[in-house]
Amino acid sequence: MTETTLLMIKPDAVQRALIGRIILRVEEKGLKIIGLRMIRLTKSMVDQLYDIHIDKNFYPVLKTFILSGPVIAIAIQGTNAVKVIRKLAGITNSPEAEPGTIRGDFGLDLTKNIVHASDEVERAQYELNIFFRKDELVEYELINEDWIK
Ligand code: CMP
Repeated sequence: MTETTLLMIKPDAVQRALIGRIILRVEEKGLKIIGLRMIRLTKSMVDQLYDIHIDKNFYPVLKTFILSGPVIAIAIQGTNAVKVIRKLAGITNSPEAEPGTIRGDFGLDLTKNIVHASDEVERAQYELNIFFRKDELVEYELINEDWIK
């Protein structure tokens, strides 16, 4: 099932010059990047992205962190893209994340955990809408697509 999801590279990974290595993992897996944007989020965009966490005790720390520098939003399409990107990201708490995953290889902190990945198809649509207009997502064929899906 072809799905579209959001992977956001967080401010810690941008500062640590990990953008290229994270994008490489998405491409190597065979998923297709259909949107890419660097942005410094506004407070209200952070509240939208993390609406389900607004009442949690860690939210002020999370919000300050996400506002601390630019992020990269990546719209990604492919077979089971939502689940596949979640697996590539690894579990939320970086020190516990499996080696081989993005968080497992690059992270040591629960808040500064390198990336955010949408957790289901409908949620991905909601989160992508925060970063991209519909006409900013590019539909195209990759020449090797039939060898991958
Ligand atoms: P993310 O996958 O972007 O979703 C919510 C974010 O809140 C999470 O990654 C972490 O960066 C941050 N966070 C901080 N503390 C916690 C916590 N106790 N549980 C879950 N997420 C947390």
